Amino acid sequence: MSSIERTAKAWSGLGENYASSTPHKSGPSLPKLIALARPQKDDICLDVGTGTGHTAAALAPFVKEIYGLDPSEGMRLAAEQTYGSIENLSFVDGSSEATGFPDNHFDIVTARHTLHHHPSMSRTLLELHRILKPGGRLIIVDEVTPNQEVDDWYHELELTRDPTHFRAYYLYEWQSFIRDADLSWIVGDSETRYTLDCESWIKRMNPRPEQAEAVRHLFKTAPDAAKKTFAIAYENGEAVSFSMPMAVILATKP
Ligand SMILES: C[S@@+](CC[C@H](N)C(=O)[O-])C[C@H]1O[C@@H](n2cnc3c(N)ncnc32)[C@H](O)[C@@H]1O
Repeated sequence: MSSIERTAKAWSGLGENYASSTPHKSGPSLPKLIALARPQKDDICLDVGTGTGHTAAALAPFVKEIYGLDPSEGMRLAAEQTYGSIENLSFVDGSSEATGFPDNHFDIVTARHTLHHHPSMSRTLLELHRILKPGGRLIIVDEVTPNQEVDDWYHELELTRDPTHFRAYYLYEWQSFIRDADLSWIVGDSETRYTLDCESWIKRMNPRPEQAEAVRHLFKTAPDAAKKTFAIAYENGEAVSFSMPMAVILATKP
């Protein structure tokens, strides 16, 4: 089984959880993404790693045509059930490394809360460069690693909760990826923060009981730097919420 098939399979049972997830439906990055995209009524758009389609559905009213691309059948099914009635929105099978769309096709490509699962950022960004029209906009929203002190703890936490997690990058790594793909970095920061309820965040991935317990343990025993960076809040010794920094980036194809 290829890594993309494994990822697609792992996500297939999570459609309901993500269709109803408040941070995905209406998290604070969504209005920022739409503002940066500057959608126009004639625009043709693609949302990669669309999951249950929240980002694609939010952009749909402003553009001519939008596709939500995802390799996971279960996620696409949940997307259809939630947003299937939106006429200019279609959900399609594919991965960010091989979208199947022609060269120079899209005015806007978005990738929100997905790229930290994708194993090859260089292949992904070259593919997104290929399908964007010259002048086209790429908007990326993704969790970032905030500093080196918390790097090991943070990635252990993510991988324990979600074995399909690959890597959350530093903002400076995003700048290199964008430059190496011949895209122009227009603006990007990691100021946007999501305050997440720990139990909902853990349960969204349908973890096995021992896996969920291991994540709780990591929160409980977090080093001081992680407690501070992620503003982990505790009640009776159990972590109840934390704050996740997100990169919001606009790049264009010259
Ligand atoms: C958290 S969900 C996406 C959330 C969605 N973008 C939103 O705004 O609500 C992550 C999605 O990334 C997809 N994914 C993982 N690896 C991928 C890849 N290489 N190419 C495209 N999608 C991928 C998964 O199938 C999953 O549906």
